[in-house]
Amino acid sequence: MIALSEAKRLVSGRLDTESSEPLYRQLYDRLRVAILSGNLRPGSKLPSTRGLAQELGLARNTVMTAYGQLLAEGYLEGELGSGTYVCKALPEHLLHASLVRPPVAGMPELPPKLSRRGAALVSIPNPVYLGHKIVCAFRLGLPALDEFPFALWARLTARYWRSKPSHLLAYGDPGGYWPLREAIAGYLATSRGVCCHPSQVIIVSGSQQGLDLAAKVLLDPGESAWIEDPGYRGARGAFLAAGVRLIPVPVDAEGMNFPSVAGKRSHARLAYVTPARQYPLGITMSMSRRLALLEWANRADAWILEDDYDSEYRYAGRPLSALQGIDHQGRVIYLGTFSKVFYPSLRLGYLVVPRSLIDPFARARALCDGHSHIVAQAVLAEFISEGHFARHLRRMRRLYAERQEVFLRAASRDLAQLLEIRPCDGGMHLIGWLDEGVDDRVMAKRALAGGIITTALSSLASQPLKRAGLMLGYTAIDSRSIRDGVRRLAEILSKNK
Ligand SMILES: Cc1ncc(COP(=O)(O)O)c(C=O)c1O
Repeated sequence: MIALSEAKRLVSGRLDTESSEPLYRQLYDRLRVAILSGNLRPGSKLPSTRGLAQELGLARNTVMTAYGQLLAEGYLEGELGSGTYVCKALPEHLLHASLVRPPVAGMPELPPKLSRRGAALVSIPNPVYLGHKIVCAFRLGLPALDEFPFALWARLTARYWRSKPSHLLAYGDPGGYWPLREAIAGYLATSRGVCCHPSQVIIVSGSQQGLDLAAKVLLDPGESAWIEDPGYRGARGAFLAAGVRLIPVPVDAEGMNFPSVAGKRSHARLAYVTPARQYPLGITMSMSRRLALLEWANRADAWILEDDYDSEYRYAGRPLSALQGIDHQGRVIYLGTFSKVFYPSLRLGYLVVPRSLIDPFARARALCDGHSHIVAQAVLAEFISEGHFARHLRRMRRLYAERQEVFLRAASRDLAQLLEIRPCDGGMHLIGWLDEGVDDRVMAKRALAGGIITTALSSLASQPLKRAGLMLGYTAIDSRSIRDGVRRLAEILSKNK
């Protein structure tokens, strides 16, 4: 029989009554550690629950629950109330002090031993900006979340669940829910000139997963990809995480200026582009550059990954059709998202892949996370096919055009001496160009300290920029917040001029 004083010593004195961890759990952990480390020998008898409870100043029930758990897990044997013993038959290899470390609050954790891939992953800046207030001036890339058609979405979702769709509750097709693939193929054909069969549409969990899959399925570690510079950090991250060597390609008035990097050392297996509206500069890739890029892909036996992230938001004129629609050799993988036209946490996007890649992408998706939530896909399919999506888009387009106007009017009054801001015929942000020599990262930091979120253009570039600027998102906030934000930003920037 273990003496009570010895038992008390083994459970390291008093338990922490302030901790959020229940007392029985703390006691269980300490006894378990004492058993595994050999301090409580196999076969030895534990004190009675009543005795130990008194010794430790605990309720008897607490000790009984801890013993009960250890009995259930096979660390103890016998019966509560008539003698409890440390199990004689614990495997020897478990009884090794080095395997167990009592949880000690405040003890520094050793850095985890990660794989090379894991270490590379954590070294890449996270593209999703999580901190600070969710909706505020001038956060990038967020739609008007308060304008979401909540009631309609709720009605459609409820209608689905009420129909008891048990057939949608099992595992589904990794390529996505068929009616949604059909709806997307139809929408892309009429609005973006994308030419595809629904089977070529692969539903993904947002563009980010599409980028991740494309990098893994199409490129080997060490192979190269062209990437626009400045460019989308999410794409950079996905390629770097897949071990791809990135070749930054400057952007000129015609879009990604790949002829400027052509040459042996710059051979690439893939080009990542945002031709509808270059992210972040907002330039539309010219038709001649598009044709040249397709020709390059054919010659170099390479892929083009076309990210069409927000082409829905065009406020004047018609956009150029997608590159995918003029690709006759199956070189283009098209990527779209519902993050900007619906809401980002929905995590639904899509790839349109050449026929030969349908199976490889669907299989890769299956091994990644199976597929996206099927009922959400079904509701979205209905939202599109019943015409609500087109109506929602028209409404948002009008709203964002108005918001851009409000922003420009306020900026011409308050920011004219501080930033050069040109109107844009589409998109969800504007760029405030700074005077030459001004460091945009410093300015962005100061703005943040003053409660305004801006994104330094140089943080999206790997080469020094000719002129620095601040990216300013204006779609998520109402007119009043836009005007207040502009005034505040002007105060901050003029103080630091
Ligand atoms: C260029 C670009 N592509 C894609 C996305 C959307 O990503 P996701 O669909 O993963 O939300 C964004 C969002 O900011 C973006 O800027």
